[in-house]
Amino acid sequence: MAFADADDARHRLDEVDYLVDEGMATALFLALRLGRPLLLEGEPGVGKTSAAKALARALDAPLIRLQCYEGLTASEALYEWNYQRQLLAIRLAESRHERLTDDDLFTEEFLQERPILAAVRHRGPVPPVLLIDEIDRADDEFEALLFEFLGENAVTIPELGTFAAAVPPVAVLTSNRSRELHDALRRRCLYHWIEFPDGARVAEILRRSVPAAAEALIRSATAFIGEIRALDLDKAPGMAEAIDWVAALSALGATEFIRADAVRTIGTIAKTPDDRDAILAVLEQS
Ligand SMILES: Nc1ncnc2c1ncn2[C@@H]1O[C@H](COP(=O)(O)OP(=O)(O)OP(=O)(O)O)[C@@H](O)[C@H]1O
Ligand SMILES: [Mg+2]
Repeated sequence: MAFADADDARHRLDEVDYLVDEGMATALFLALRLGRPLLLEGEPGVGKTSAAKALARALDAPLIRLQCYEGLTASEALYEWNYQRQLLAIRLAESRHERLTDDDLFTEEFLQERPILAAVRHRGPVPPVLLIDEIDRADDEFEALLFEFLGENAVTIPELGTFAAAVPPVAVLTSNRSRELHDALRRRCLYHWIEFPDGARVAEILRRSVPAAAEALIRSATAFIGEIRALDLDKAPGMAEAIDWVAALSALGATEFIRADAVRTIGTIAKTPDDRDAILAVLEQS
């Protein structure tokens, strides 16, 4: 069932352990209510990918996922013709001394759906959540292939015609801003920048993600993550790193913050030699 309002969105996402502030709850509610794609940006590990996953769980909707990468093409994202089956059909027809025309070969029988067409053609009581993850990794020409879908919830296949979604899928696009996206793409989407959560929410996310961790450990880890995020690091630790760190400390049996344990597990939060040195320097002073 769709969200009644932003508060309902926040509440139901909370039930699936995804914790949002008012801005994010409103963005998600509006994207659904207005039937518009939502473009999410934010630092690495701030919860962009998991937002779409949590949304699918909260709505009890299927999740269709398209991971973008350099060189991604329409045949992997939209649809593809099954050449092998077409070839087989041609051979079979030849053995019967028949000839197949394009009209025989470019039919639904030979069509292979890829994530975007699958989302448009999805039949079911609940529209799917379509996650188009890390769109900035795809080449910029790829974005143009999305315009029809993003603007009209439709996919046109020259040989077959236009497929329009009966109920628009809930499209969530994410970007890490490794390059600028086209204005034309941004214009077709609602936009939300995910802020790194405040201390109270970081602690609550840690409690939910690492249930075995002691409360004292969670509190001091939250404070320490906040402290080192204020440094000028190459890769400031995100939620993913904070969760890894608390899980590591907890697995080592720590129930509170002990400097020696923090040093042993530094690889979970420092991802470059310089960051390692910078964080060790802070630990020295603590
Ligand atoms: N608001 C949140 N509530 C609950 N868990 C969260 C939240 N934000 C982040 N997390 C957790 O933090 C981890 C990282 O999140 P996720 O992978 O979604 O980040 P991302 O923004 O997609 O990162 P990247 O840019 O590296 O792909 C996940 O384990 C996720 O469950
Ligand atoms: Mg991600």
